[in-house]
Amino acid sequence: MHPEAAQLLGMAAEAARRGQYGQALPMLSRALALDIEGVAPAYADLLARLSLTGWPPQLEADLATCLCAGSPDPQMLARTAARMLLVKYPEPVVAEDPLWDAFLTRCINVDPAMEARLAWLAGRVLPDGLRKALAIQAFASEYAWGGEALGVPPAAAAEIAEERALAEAMPSLGIPGDAISRAVRAQYEANPYPRWRVPPARPHAALARHLASLGAQQAEPLAVLVAGCGTGFEPIDLARMDPSLSITALDLSAASLAHGQRMAGVLGVENVRFVQGDILDMAGLGERFAMVSCTGVLHHMERPEQGLAALADALVPGGVLRVALYSERARARVAEARRAIAEHGWDASAAGIRAFRAHVLSLPPERPLAGLRESDDFYTLSGCRDLCFHVREHWYRLPAIQAMLAAAGFEPLMLDAPPEAQARFAERFGTAADRHDLMLWDRLEADFPHLFAGMFHLWCRKRGQG
Ligand SMILES: C[S@@+](CC[C@H](N)C(=O)[O-])C[C@H]1O[C@@H](n2cnc3c(N)ncnc32)[C@H](O)[C@@H]1O
Repeated sequence: MHPEAAQLLGMAAEAARRGQYGQALPMLSRALALDIEGVAPAYADLLARLSLTGWPPQLEADLATCLCAGSPDPQMLARTAARMLLVKYPEPVVAEDPLWDAFLTRCINVDPAMEARLAWLAGRVLPDGLRKALAIQAFASEYAWGGEALGVPPAAAAEIAEERALAEAMPSLGIPGDAISRAVRAQYEANPYPRWRVPPARPHAALARHLASLGAQQAEPLAVLVAGCGTGFEPIDLARMDPSLSITALDLSAASLAHGQRMAGVLGVENVRFVQGDILDMAGLGERFAMVSCTGVLHHMERPEQGLAALADALVPGGVLRVALYSERARARVAEARRAIAEHGWDASAAGIRAFRAHVLSLPPERPLAGLRESDDFYTLSGCRDLCFHVREHWYRLPAIQAMLAAAGFEPLMLDAPPEAQARFAERFGTAADRHDLMLWDRLEADFPHLFAGMFHLWCRKRGQG
């Protein structure tokens, strides 16, 4: 990094840590001018946490720069950009503006007031550039708020055709025998999830070193399985972080895998093989792995413990499993959404999902269901289907997860808790308390039921010699 930019970045981080954003922002601005790619990730991180009441022009220019830089995921700036634009243009107007353009083409909107503005814009005669940018936005959100008349952007049409061809040629372990696996597959063939466009540029790091730090040494080169990889974000992220890995990315949905495979091609990632198939049929891969990652998948199986046993079989003795499962307490809002959906008879079609979304958007903010508007998943049809219309989902408390893992021959190594949860843990139990004790985490969650809204993420080790 440019040395002066690095110095300014350090000073800005210190000022931000003290809450002195008025000092931190001009320093970041100067640093950004010196080194966009080096500074944009840290600047974006701060911008994403700002709540804006005014519209400083320099901040706007910097935000547009960060949105277009290669390194931070522009989606992390979606809320900030939407709010800045709404502060800048409190009344609906047709305006061509670099920030509008960057926002529309690089982010998926996740702000309810902005969604209303987008729908308003779609009904106007627009200058060519703005119309094209709005068409990209409407396509990315799968026309959740309308905008079909803007047409499919030409680049997207080409990507759809390429992904269809890749899906047809996808190596496969065969059609699943399990009825729920078939239903889940149908859901994700129609609605691949998650929709992502730009991966974060990860600094290089050796996965083997991380596993060793968890006390799970493994011989290199490491073979890694991402089971239920969806649209390939995680295997591609891992592959870019550590190009020495040999990664297998498995999923029920060929359409999801095809998105990952196309993106791997775009990004020049060569160490991932994509395979369509059921976790229950994984023996067909004919390989065992040093690490398996399974994020947000087992809870969609008919019998998650059966899936867990299959993952254990796929690991070498002493191998590491990273698993993420839904928290029952954090899903209370979704449970209410599912009750409302059943009551109104909305189905998982585009029309059903739109009707449900319109209902949620019409609720006053104090109603619990209105809280769904804070979830990014609410803003695309596939995300909303995954969030509230899933064909099967199980929810957990930590003691039940601990018992399930033990029964499958795993010992928990670490709960990967988000920073807010870590801080609350230290506050409640003191810094000397054992962070490996899942019962303590369970007690904490009872007091803060939304702590694990992003799921429980656990690292575990298969018993046996490595
Ligand atoms: C909620 S998505 C999560 C995708 C990805 N792991 C992530 O974190 O973004 C769940 C994925 O698991 C896949 N899946 C569910 N059950 C599966 C099974 N039995 N075998 C393989 N994949 C499965 C689905 O097809 C879907 O793509």
